[in-house]
Amino acid sequence: MGVFQIGDTTTGTRNYDFYDGIDYFITPQYAIDKLLEQENFEGTILEPCSGNGRISKTLEQLGYTVYSSDIREDEDVYGEKGINCMSLKGIQANNLITNPPYLNTKKLLSMTQHFLTLADKKVALLLRLAFLESQARHEFLTTSPLEKVYVFSKRLTMHREGMDEKDKARGKIAFAWFVWNHDKPSNTKPIIDWLF
Ligand SMILES: C[S@@+](CC[C@H](N)C(=O)[O-])C[C@H]1O[C@@H](n2cnc3c(N)ncnc32)[C@H](O)[C@@H]1O
Repeated sequence: MGVFQIGDTTTGTRNYDFYDGIDYFITPQYAIDKLLEQENFEGTILEPCSGNGRISKTLEQLGYTVYSSDIREDEDVYGEKGINCMSLKGIQANNLITNPPYLNTKKLLSMTQHFLTLADKKVALLLRLAFLESQARHEFLTTSPLEKVYVFSKRLTMHREGMDEKDKARGKIAFAWFVWNHDKPSNTKPIIDWLF
């Protein structure tokens, strides 16, 4: 897979801050299925970094109404093309589920904060477990309605398009589903659980 032509829909200029053309990984089916075994989502779902649509298609097969978009503009994108998720404003759906780009960790915090403004129920993000760390994220993590962190006991292998998902590659990075719930009582702490 080559480098994508990316346009920032808000400015019309190229914007590689969030996306450098290589951060497209297909979400492992196992990771999506495990989340959906644990969590119920009521109402509509926004997938704002939909890529080729692995998460969106799984949700649609289960009967959910899903709004899919991605900053990419190539023909393989599932959903609306050329939409920078940071340009979306206001509540777009009841829930948001995605596997966002990871490369720029500072921007990932502002992207996560922004995602919380786009859904009025739950926001589920597949992130590195290390997102729990850092002084920069401390205030956000301790004051936002983070309800659950689902740690994968087995390391996930993130595949690029064209790779065989059955190959023997083993991921070296620990991932977890982070689930925020706007209905979480503010006096409760996040719950940690494991996916096996
Ligand atoms: C890790 S991939 C996840 C793909 C997809 N969610 C899946 O389940 O397979 C991250 C995706 O985020 C997209 N992306 C990166 N920056 C973005 C932005 N600012 N707005 C919308 N999509 C973005 C990339 O094009 C890529 O498709």
